[in-house]
This record gives sequence, structure tokens and C-alpha cells, in this order.
Amino acid sequence: MTMPADPADYRAVWKSKLVLRIVYEGLYERIVKACRPGRTLEIGGGSGNLKAFSPDVVSTDVLPADWLDAVCDAQRLPFAPERFDNIVMFDVLHHLERPVRFFEEASRLLRPGGRVVMLEPGITPVSRVFYGLFHHEPVDMTEDVMADGALDPSRDPYDSNQAIPTLLFGNRKRRLLFEARFPVLKVMTAEKFALAVYPLSGGFRSWSLVTASMVKPLTAVEDFFAPLLGPILGFRLLVVLEKRP
Ligand SMILES: C[S@@+](CC[C@H](N)C(=O)[O-])C[C@H]1O[C@@H](n2cnc3c(N)ncnc32)[C@H](O)[C@@H]1O
Repeated sequence: MTMPADPADYRAVWKSKLVLRIVYEGLYERIVKACRPGRTLEIGGGSGNLKAFSPDVVSTDVLPADWLDAVCDAQRLPFAPERFDNIVMFDVLHHLERPVRFFEEASRLLRPGGRVVMLEPGITPVSRVFYGLFHHEPVDMTEDVMADGALDPSRDPYDSNQAIPTLLFGNRKRRLLFEARFPVLKVMTAEKFALAVYPLSGGFRSWSLVTASMVKPLTAVEDFFAPLLGPILGFRLLVVLEKRP
């Protein structure tokens, strides 16, 4: 099975696949719940649907699309300091060439107490095998994610390394290193979850091994076990950072 080629194709799959919409509804609910009240900037909105779950959102992406409010790069954002209460990225951090540039921008744009909320692939012993076999995006656990340097203007925005979020936030040592580099950003949450329903749904592929009616009850069961099993089986990583006053 192939993945859609562009955001419009992702939107078409989104409209036609009920299981996908129910799975993602749960993911968007987690994002919205983690946000502070106030103004939200969405980065890398792409084919996304955050506005459907949280109306007061400025949606942006580095690639243009009719439904976005602005086109901009996460690594150099054209907004005034302390403009936003939340910055949301859903499956975007692992596409960034220089993640540190984004966190510098986030530190600048957030109001004190404001949050960065990111939902990303989580690399665990089980997800690593699955992503390696069935997902087109690479997992490179050797990348120096704190490296800075010039941005390549010809880089494909869909280039990726699914390991980036885990390399930054996957364990306590990594989180401490992050906070040492960005002392203004406190790591509030770094949870691995989504044990089975998400991979069994097939994501944006045309197949699913779960039915729409199974998604919510199965997700409730796996959420119960996630604190214990997430570090071994989780496919997703929710990271919440808060700007210190
Ligand atoms: C996997 S898609 C996720 C789209 C959407 N957030 C969703 O969940 O459906 C990754 C998105 O990140 C965007 N992106 C990649 N690099 C970016 C950058 N440097 N700045 C802003 N957006 C970027 C891509 O254009 C793409 O729309």
C-alpha cells in the first residue's frame, strides 16, 4: 500500500476513512487538552484538521494550501515576540532540519506560561521494528539533534527522521539535556502511548485491521496500560513544554 503523495490526497483519505478520523479525533483531543486557553499557532498544519477541534487557531505550513492562514518555516517564524499562548505541531518536529532553531523561535513567540504541544512518532523497541518494516520514513537514532547550522533552501519538507522527538525527549537524561540548552522551556509531559490501535488502523493507508466501533473501547484499554507499557510498545510521543515566567 502506498501513502498519499500530497496534502490534498491526505485530505481525500481523511474524508473517506472513518476509522482514521476516529483515531485522529482522539489524538486531536489530547492536543487540545494540553493547550492553555488563548491564541494558538499551528505549525506544519499541512492536510491537518486542528481547526475543527480548536477554532481559535492560526494554521501555517511551509508549503502553501488553500485552507492555511500563512506560509512559514518553523525555523524562522514571522511573528512578534510573546504573541501566542500555544504552539502546536502534529507530526512536524521529525521533519525539521534544525529542531533547535524551532525551539529558539518557540521561546521567543510564547507568552510566559505558554506551551509547545507536539504529537510525534515515539520510538520504542516494538514501534522501531514496525516503523522499520512498514513505514516509509527513516528512524536514525544517531542524529545529533542539538546541532545547529545553515538551513538548506532546497530541502524537501517531507524529509524526515522519526527518531528526532525520541532523541530529544525520550528519557529523563535527554529531557535534562534539552532543558540545559533551552532553560526557558520546561518539559511538562513526555508520554509514550498508542500501543496497538494506531498501527492497526493503518493510518493514512487504505487498509485497517480495526473497525470504527472498536477504536474507542480499545483506546480506553490501552490508555489504562500506557504508563506501564508505553515505553516498550508505544507508537506515539506527546510532548508538552511550558515557557517559564
Ligand atoms: C506529516 S505532515 C503533518 C501535517 C499535519 N500536521 C497533520 O497532522 O496532518 C508534516 C508537515 O510538516 C510540514 N513541514 C515540514 N517542514 C516544515 C518546516 N520547516 N516548517 C513548517 N512546516 C514544515 C510539511 O509541509 C507537512 O505539511
